[in-house]
Amino acid sequence: MTKLRTQVGIIGAGPAGLTLAHLLHLQGIESLVLERHTREYVETRVRAGVLEQGTVDILCGSGVGERLKREGLLHQGIELRFAGKGHRIDFEDLVGKSITVYAQQEVVKDLIAARLADRAPIFFEAEAMRIDDYDSAPVIHYQHQGTSHEIACDFIAGCDGFHGICRPAVPEEQLQIHERHYPFAWLGILAQVPPASHELIYTYHERGFSLLSMRSPEISRLYLQCAPDEDIQNWPDDRIWEELRTRMATLNGFLLQDGPILQKGITPMRSFVAAPMQFGRLFLLGDAAHIVPPTGAKGLNLAVADVRVLTRGFIEFYKRGDREPLRQFSDRCLRRVWKCQRFSWWMTSMLHRFPGEDSFSHHLHLAELGYVTGSRAASTTLAENYVGLPFDMPDLF
Ligand code: FAD
Ligand code: PHB
Repeated sequence: MTKLRTQVGIIGAGPAGLTLAHLLHLQGIESLVLERHTREYVETRVRAGVLEQGTVDILCGSGVGERLKREGLLHQGIELRFAGKGHRIDFEDLVGKSITVYAQQEVVKDLIAARLADRAPIFFEAEAMRIDDYDSAPVIHYQHQGTSHEIACDFIAGCDGFHGICRPAVPEEQLQIHERHYPFAWLGILAQVPPASHELIYTYHERGFSLLSMRSPEISRLYLQCAPDEDIQNWPDDRIWEELRTRMATLNGFLLQDGPILQKGITPMRSFVAAPMQFGRLFLLGDAAHIVPPTGAKGLNLAVADVRVLTRGFIEFYKRGDREPLRQFSDRCLRRVWKCQRFSWWMTSMLHRFPGEDSFSHHLHLAELGYVTGSRAASTTLAENYVGLPFDMPDLF
């Protein structure tokens, strides 16, 4: 058993934990990262793909954006497709910003490489089992290769995702949980075939939602709305391609080529917020505190926005002895979280078919999509949220 000490004990080497560790290192603030999985596992886990400009700025501004700048795909718009026609939302024209398509696991690889190059501590296959005294003198108990160890720290950053141990460590009566489950899920595939479009296509169809995204000029990422309890065994490759073609078909023809499916899986959809996000010296960040349905592509970006707020708080605390920004962490983060929840819920409701919907509902979906794509004001609202609300918006500052 070893007993270590650090300033900030970080649980979880996902985007939240790794970004926080990196930004703190640049400020000379010590941290130690614990990750329960292997390095290979976290570097190959297929998840998010869309980075807001603000996220890209943080990564590039902190020196981990070299590959992102080289390999990331800059997108200046998306397509909304319905009733057999595509409608482009031009971000550059509407709000003067763009997004970057760069896989989450690539961000994770870049941050791990930086951590190792900095010779800063990160332990893989090290599972946090329990946290103690987070109100006064926090201690993290973890297991590594069958042995128990302890880390004493000034603060704990709970970056351990939705199924981690930090949020459950807080007594239930101190946590407010706000959540919504959706009566559908996403079946996602990664396929070795060039993307059929340069930009993402979000499609509303009577048979359900579908999304065309990508990871590189050779690799497509595609999603289909399916039942929440769907068995992946019911979806042989041919059926997936046929369903994608049906939903994405346009009146003037649209060619979706198939290719080898490299990976497939089903993702449940939920909206979830735990409040507050701070308990004494314990902070919850990213998916540990909130989940958004993936339709707005906000999850990873929100995790990085939480990190930005906490890093500022730690800088003020350690450099100037000012505790106030740390005290404001939860309120500041939650203002952005709720705005992103609203956007993700709205995109999800507009683009998916809910079980039992009748022709009236179908026409409401079409009317809303027609309005969003036909009105410059409505398109601007979508664009402004999709590319990421500015950090200096009065309510978000
Ligand atoms: P995680 O990535 O979940 O990382 C938490 C880490 O903590 C994990 O590595 C876990 O192993 C570790 N951990 C847990 N418990 C312990 C423990 N006890 N001890 C040590 N380590 C522990 N977001 C977007 O912004 N854009 C998108 O396009 C997008 N698409 C998505 C598509 C899919 C299919 C999915 C599933 C998600 C998508 N998201 C998207 C959401 C995004 O992936 C998450 O919001 C993001 O991973 C959150 O990062 P995090 O660091 O908070 O949590
Ligand atoms: C993805 O590329 O995985 C992706 C893109 C946009 C979304 C969700 C996921 O809204």
